[in-house]
Amino acid sequence: MSANNKGLAVSNALPNFSGGERALAAPPNLARLRSFVRAFGALLDDTQRETHILARGARLLALLVEHDDWLPDEYAAPAPERYQQYLLHCDSRERFSVVSFVWGPGQFTPVHDHTVWGLVGVLRGAELSQAYTRAPDGTLTKNGAAERLAAGSIAAVSPSIGDIHVVSNALEAGPSVSIHVYGANIGRVERATYDGDGKPKRFVSGYANRAVPNIWSQAQSS
Ligand SMILES: [Fe+2]
Repeated sequence: MSANNKGLAVSNALPNFSGGERALAAPPNLARLRSFVRAFGALLDDTQRETHILARGARLLALLVEHDDWLPDEYAAPAPERYQQYLLHCDSRERFSVVSFVWGPGQFTPVHDHTVWGLVGVLRGAELSQAYTRAPDGTLTKNGAAERLAAGSIAAVSPSIGDIHVVSNALEAGPSVSIHVYGANIGRVERATYDGDGKPKRFVSGYANRAVPNIWSQAQSS
């Protein structure tokens, strides 16, 4: 898929990893997240070009979500009232943040934008992403059909390739979890949701958690 307003330019450029088996008995392998954070910081040291960040970042994220043995359960916990957004890591210069999103059955986001680049990697379950385009008069229309993202799939959003969508859990009977990377401390970014007429409403998402995973313990091998 070429770059377009669907915001999914990266998804078809990558192999569709199946996602790994969960190792329930073992402690979370947080070294995977630590390695990802280090690699993503090095990527941003190397380039500020969004096309390069999305392409190379997508490959790093694909490697992270290829295995489902590293995310602690507390950051994969659904809540009955709404989807959850857990901060896993924020770069010290807030150049990027890593977040787990958890959807229970039937849960979905409002129509929303991001205002910065973002990458989505599905770790567990499956999600539906419906892209929207916004006309100059502000009205919103669906941009094609919803795309189903299975475990291992990578998608991208940004103001330059398509930034408005709705994401929902594609599973009827269980939660889905995806790992997102954004070009800012996304929980503090002022952005917008949109009503049916395309009228924007300001929102700042924040995060559901008060503490982030300790990815720096020396007990963890790297
Ligand atoms: Fe989104």
